[in-house]
Amino acid sequence: MRKNKIFVACDSTNISKIEEIIKKTKTSKLKVGYKFGLEFLNSKKGRFFLSKLKNKITFADLKIHDIPNTCAATVKAIKDLNVSYLTIHISSGLEALNAAKKEAGKTKLIGVTILTSLDNKALKEIGFSKEVKKLVFHQAKLASKAKLDAIVCSAQEVKIVKKIFKKEIITPGIRFNSSTNDQKRTLTPSQAFNNGSDWIVIGRPITKGNIKKNLNTLIDHLEK
Ligand code: C5P
Repeated sequence: MRKNKIFVACDSTNISKIEEIIKKTKTSKLKVGYKFGLEFLNSKKGRFFLSKLKNKITFADLKIHDIPNTCAATVKAIKDLNVSYLTIHISSGLEALNAAKKEAGKTKLIGVTILTSLDNKALKEIGFSKEVKKLVFHQAKLASKAKLDAIVCSAQEVKIVKKIFKKEIITPGIRFNSSTNDQKRTLTPSQAFNNGSDWIVIGRPITKGNIKKNLNTLIDHLEK
């Protein structure tokens, strides 16, 4: 049977905590990768730790959002970390996506659509007139045009994205045992995989509290 694929969000600047997360999420039941976000990548020790991490599927969630020249230069600058996956906001625009893709080499470039912490009300507040699903579909078209390797969206939009984007789909905003926290567009792990997610991203529901116990709850949930 094919293993379910999970990126564990390593959202801390405490290296011992990150080592604990990596150690305690080792399992033969899942394919596990590790996602390092802005707080980790902006810490001196974090960047150094990641540069030394070997034989792991790694994901730098840098969420690049800038002009084409800066996007491309940033992709080039992070190459020393040898990460497997790297994120850029699709709202940086097609020209920026093309420029970044040119520099990405063997790193898979992931386009981020609308953050899973935003709902229709929040989009209106920002000044967008389209609703979430329409915007995500529109951005998926752009990701496809720029030949990005993967896309990040909420698990609620996977079916829509699949219509236009044929590569990997990665979904954060996953909840199975705890509060939604700041996430708005959430689904459970099994709902996300049933909808067609290739990878799910889970942070706090695994990393807060007893990591081993949380992981086993997740595995039980997926085996039901
Ligand atoms: O703790 P939680 O499971 O909410 O963590 C989700 C992770 O996925 C965080 O690291 C967050 O930065 C990231 N993420 C997200 N929504 C996106 C893109 C990334 O929650 N659209």
